[in-house]
Amino acid sequence: MASLQHNLRLATEADLPAMTEVLNAASRQDPIYPYRFPDRHRYPSEFALLCRQKCTEYLASSTVVVCEMPSATDAGAMRVVAFAVWDTPASQHRVQAHTGSLEPLPSQQPSSLGVPITIGHKDRMDAFKSACVRYKATFFDAKYKRGHVMLRILLCHPDYQRRGAGKALTEWGIQEAQRLGLYTTVFASPMGLRLYTKLGFTEIGRFRVEVEGDEEHLEIPALVLSPSAGIWESGRKATCGMVTGAGYNGVSSTVCA
Ligand SMILES: CC(C)(COP(=O)(O)OP(=O)(O)OC[C@H]1O[C@@H](n2cnc3c(N)ncnc32)[C@H](O)[C@@H]1OP(=O)(O)O)[C@@H](O)C(=O)NCCC(=O)NCCS
Repeated sequence: MASLQHNLRLATEADLPAMTEVLNAASRQDPIYPYRFPDRHRYPSEFALLCRQKCTEYLASSTVVVCEMPSATDAGAMRVVAFAVWDTPASQHRVQAHTGSLEPLPSQQPSSLGVPITIGHKDRMDAFKSACVRYKATFFDAKYKRGHVMLRILLCHPDYQRRGAGKALTEWGIQEAQRLGLYTTVFASPMGLRLYTKLGFTEIGRFRVEVEGDEEHLEIPALVLSPSAGIWESGRKATCGMVTGAGYNGVSSTVCA
């Protein structure tokens, strides 16, 4: 499908409902959610609340970029259809200084936002969390001592996929990493893997998330893109700054300040 007109900008708190909707709709396509929340269909309102809490935490602790596209239902209006959550060295240091890990700050823990989490497979959630912290340290932090720009999460609403939003959001972070002379890093889902590979990322390893005695597990690839890499597409090298317009430039200058 052809790429649609789109606009990238930094997220604000006003984007929380739209981000929540995107996370709620797209998360089922990323195995890390069905693995940790196998009962989410039975508790849709709790899961929606959890999505909102996660988005609140992203806004508080990371750099969130949203992608707007023309609404399919409201002619002439733009709507947030996708977002990316980036951790730069600055945001990572801020979180690590408080907790020693990449977990949310205590004040941003979902349970402290007013409603306790009542769904979720606790053992799998714990295994996932500790594996991510451990393998982030092994694959990325230990290797890139000057830091790296990590794509923490990328989601596009299913109704707007294959129109270029994911690519544009990923290129935004790649360009930011290249401006800082740092690697771009990500733990990929199966759908993300196709996108990142197309953009030139290299897989440097994989890790398993598993709980003893549990028949289900996750296998998660770790990918990196060198700061000196271009973006390769269909066998030709392209530049990163492919999105033009006020929104993109606005994001870039705000973050670079
Ligand atoms: C991964 C995701 C964000 C991609 O968003 P998107 O806006 O649909 O991606 P784009 O339209 O920018 O795709 C760019 C390219 O990536 C590749 N790609 C993306 N999705 C693909 C898919 N489902 N199958 C095959 N290739 C795919 C294609 O090469 C595509 O280019 P093309 O459409 O011209 O062939 C989206 O599929 C999603 O939200 N998935 C569920 C959540 C998830 O897994 N997120 C990634 C976490 S690491």
